Amino acid sequence: MNASEIKKIACIGSGLIGASWATNFLMKGYKVNIYDIDEKLLAIAKERIERDLEFLVSKNVIEEDKLEQIEKNATFTTDMEIALKDVQFIQESGPEKYEIKHEILAEVDKYASPNAIFASSTSGLLITEIAKFSKHSQRCIGAHPYNPPHLIPLVEITKGDNTSQEALDAAYEFYKLLGKEPIILKKEALGFIANRLQMALYREAVDLVNRGVCTVEDVDKATCYGPGLRYATMGPNLLYHLGGGPYGIRGILSHIGPSVEMWWKDMADWKTWPEGWKDIVHEGVEESILGRAPEMGNNVEDLVKFRDDMLLELLKLHKKL
Ligand SMILES: NC(=O)c1ccc[n+]([C@@H]2O[C@H](COP(=O)([O-])OP(=O)(O)OC[C@H]3O[C@@H](n4cnc5c(N)ncnc54)[C@H](O)[C@@H]3O)[C@@H](O)[C@H]2O)c1
Repeated sequence: MNASEIKKIACIGSGLIGASWATNFLMKGYKVNIYDIDEKLLAIAKERIERDLEFLVSKNVIEEDKLEQIEKNATFTTDMEIALKDVQFIQESGPEKYEIKHEILAEVDKYASPNAIFASSTSGLLITEIAKFSKHSQRCIGAHPYNPPHLIPLVEITKGDNTSQEALDAAYEFYKLLGKEPIILKKEALGFIANRLQMALYREAVDLVNRGVCTVEDVDKATCYGPGLRYATMGPNLLYHLGGGPYGIRGILSHIGPSVEMWWKDMADWKTWPEGWKDIVHEGVEESILGRAPEMGNNVEDLVKFRDDMLLELLKLHKKL
């Protein structure tokens, strides 16, 4: 399978991630079959996809006169056989449980062409484990997007023990054609790259609040208006290289490195979520949303819009639109 042979895609699971993937494939001109286990869920997905496509039209990312055809390219179905008919690429975004991924893959083995690539959106499960009962495990890859996949370029690709180089190369090329920024992990790792980084930061965020150093809102402010703004421009290694002035990253690590070792000794290293955190943070988040100016989004719906508006601007700056 060659990436240019991919014309029709199945999105299996049409929740938050599946619907957003569908939007991404549709906006790039592909035909997309969208599958879920019941009609009500599909209706919600359809609404979500149409809303996101209209938003992209309003931002001139999609030409208005293309919208009708783009929407016609979407088929919604609860029939797996129909969903998988004549597709060359399958983006699976079902629930994050091995048993369900195994059930889905059994159906995929039954109805899809053996040449079709199976890409799981799993956030951190191992693709070897997901594919272990499949008759065609050579075509299975992990392809972890970041929410919302139709806007965030990163896709972390993982290979399992049996994944073929051909499937890996075709998937990588396909995501490139889609305008994504794929990374192929050299070996499997639970949580992949970005979620491990994100959760290392988040453990410290939880700990700072629990230690009474700052509030839930302060954590978000410190992240968003400090490192977050910089991370939207480039990664930590390049940033530290700039921080070292003429001495580069070697220089800054020599300069502040010894202090950092003191911080590390003081930082959290627990392995299970502290009791009560979900309630503490939920209350903290609700309080901080209420405190936001309306134009910055002070309810969940407006926050999504605010985030997507900002992401579009950043993507333009990164030449990713
Ligand atoms: N939410 C995120 O931020 C995020 C980010 C990246 C990756 N992911 C991964 O994407 C996948 C989907 O996550 P989500 O947040 O969209 O979840 P979700 O709950 O919003 O969607 C899952 C969908 O799968 C459907 N489903 C249930 N059983 C199914 C079956 N047997 N066959 C097909 N579909 C089935 C559900 O009805 C639901 O619509 C997970 O593997 C998750 O780890 C999530």
